[in-house]
Amino acid sequence: MKPVRVGLIGTGYMGKAHAIAFKSAPAIFPLSTDIVCEMVAEVDAELAAQKAREFGFNRFTADWRQLVTDPEIDVVDICAPNYLHKEMALAAIEAGKHVYSEKPLALSAIDALEMTEAAEKAGVKTLVGFNYTKNPTIQLAREIISNGEIGDVVHFRGTFNEDYLADNQLPFTWRLKREFSGSGTLGDMGSHLINLAEFLVAPMTELCADIQTVHRERPTPDQPGNTGTVENDDQVHLMARFANGAMGTLESSRIAWGRKNGLWFEVTGTRGSLIYDQERLSELQLFTNDDRPSRQGFRRILTGPQHPDYANFCVSAGHGLGYNDMKAVEVRDLIEGIAADKPMWPDFRAAYRVNVIMDAIEQSHAEHQWIQISV
Ligand SMILES: NC(=O)c1ccc[n+]([C@@H]2O[C@H](COP(=O)([O-])OP(=O)(O)OC[C@H]3O[C@@H](n4cnc5c(N)ncnc54)[C@H](O)[C@@H]3O)[C@@H](O)[C@H]2O)c1
Repeated sequence: MKPVRVGLIGTGYMGKAHAIAFKSAPAIFPLSTDIVCEMVAEVDAELAAQKAREFGFNRFTADWRQLVTDPEIDVVDICAPNYLHKEMALAAIEAGKHVYSEKPLALSAIDALEMTEAAEKAGVKTLVGFNYTKNPTIQLAREIISNGEIGDVVHFRGTFNEDYLADNQLPFTWRLKREFSGSGTLGDMGSHLINLAEFLVAPMTELCADIQTVHRERPTPDQPGNTGTVENDDQVHLMARFANGAMGTLESSRIAWGRKNGLWFEVTGTRGSLIYDQERLSELQLFTNDDRPSRQGFRRILTGPQHPDYANFCVSAGHGLGYNDMKAVEVRDLIEGIAADKPMWPDFRAAYRVNVIMDAIEQSHAEHQWIQISV
């Protein structure tokens, strides 16, 4: 079978995580075909050359357009800032390439829909980096819920809080400007939480949200004493209703001191509950009322080879996986989707849904009212 040849755009935080996954996935999973790390694109040739060498890619370019039209590339991997996703994805789709994009897919639902329809029309495969659902522990949580082991889900309480912008003296980045990032913590971490809540519970049908920018001015790196105005949210929370009748509360913050990867949830069912904490990503807490009353309590399950995808990483239970391992599962799904023509999830259409919900959250805040989700 023909190998899948990858072109990677952007070599920062996510570019590196993807590069690691392209190298590790073939050792972890029995893939249907080989991965060729073909080309890296960056903002200048020096950085592109350096990263191609470090990440083990064959070629580099300082022009991402050259990468997307290169005949030796099968899949374009977009790890550039949010505002570039649309232009890069549309160019890649036009060139007939499959697209693997980081989240959030686009700055707005309208843009995400345009990208989705272009990909579907062209018949190319798409995958978006909502990696947290790839964790064997989260797959186990979904299995427990869909088996009915905690009964019918009645409530989802989820947070995704970090402190990477809690210090108000941290300098400006692209993440703080609407034209480059769109929303703030909502698109950055809230988008993951929305995708995860729907993965575990059901599609969201309506919501009521509040949003706040706490640190309105931050220093700019140009000159000491200069500041720039922050244009998007530091914290957001919402009440939601899901299609199965369950209620939910979701919150996200980028200024929550002490929270490093605070993706956390509690799912309550009619017969039990599940608790998960991403900072302990190979553990799940399960309570069921099947236990006799004198023995009831949350049971700590450590993920192991009997759980989805874990055995490919390690033969021993409880040895723990890490963030980069979730990206390896994601890359497995990408390569199998392309090589073995399997469906991929979350594709552009699924990521478009997240953009719709993000827009509804901003609309709810602006209008001080509940908003129905119409897709
Ligand atoms: N899935 C996740 O868990 C996760 C985590 C962090 C970031 N992200 C997403 O990944 C994307 C990138 O974020 P990041 O944290 O890696 O940002 P980053 O700033 O660390 O890296 C972005 C890289 O893109 C490069 N770049 C910018 N413009 C470019 C251009 N025109 N051509 C080529 N390269 C260009 C930059 O030089 C930089 O190296 C964002 O969409 C973000 O939301 C996802």
